[in-house]
Amino acid sequence: MQLQDILYSQGFGTRRVCAGLVQHGWVETARLGQGASFSPCTDASLEFDTADLRLRIQGVEWQYHAKAYVMLHKPAGTECSQKPSTYPSIYTLLPAPLRQRPCKSAIQGVQAVGRLDQDTTGLLLLSDDGQFIHRMSSPKKHVPKIYRVRAKHPVDELQIAKLLEGVVLDDDPKPVRAAACTFVDSHSLDLTLTEGKYHQVKRMLAAVGNRVEQLHRSRIGALDLPSDLAPGQWRWLSDEDLLRLTSVP
Ligand code: URA
Repeated sequence: MQLQDILYSQGFGTRRVCAGLVQHGWVETARLGQGASFSPCTDASLEFDTADLRLRIQGVEWQYHAKAYVMLHKPAGTECSQKPSTYPSIYTLLPAPLRQRPCKSAIQGVQAVGRLDQDTTGLLLLSDDGQFIHRMSSPKKHVPKIYRVRAKHPVDELQIAKLLEGVVLDDDPKPVRAAACTFVDSHSLDLTLTEGKYHQVKRMLAAVGNRVEQLHRSRIGALDLPSDLAPGQWRWLSDEDLLRLTSVP
């Protein structure tokens, strides 16, 4: 693939901008492997094999990814929208190339897999792979998500039993139930859901006479939020992470 097309595919701007980056000498390349050193490349049409290419753009290394799959530790006080109404957008926490990746020849960037409320924290996935987003967010796929709930009032056996049996939410007569619900301490529980209705956890807790004070998503499929990923930080998903996400039926 030509260097300008590689940069374009990674979200470094239009093809013209990418060609300009190269012509200015701001792009360095190296081969994967020990001892390979970076050297500037000023020919935007030079062909490279992306399988063993390392890139450095304006002094910052960029790992080539044909498709982007990332996780973000969503902090409280952020909105999962490109056009937020009140709080800063989660997309501002991502580097510009992830926000500018082209998708079907339009610059759209990665999209969040589902949404979390502004006050919810925890694991959020983002990708530019439409099939992956659909697979992870479709209610038909039943991907389990675990939420740690901090409740206003003490949680008891009866509330847990009701959450497992199913509760009716105001907009749908069909009961929704937790796939699992475990007691953590007097005011906390871990709730596993396999669907993602609007404000679902908050509405389920309200339906059993309690109230969510804090909400944190700790796991999607078999992928845990890593303990070393601080709020506001993002990371590429590894092949192993992707397997963990998709291996749970
Ligand atoms: N359920 C909620 O109520 N809020 C979230 O952010 C996620 C699940």
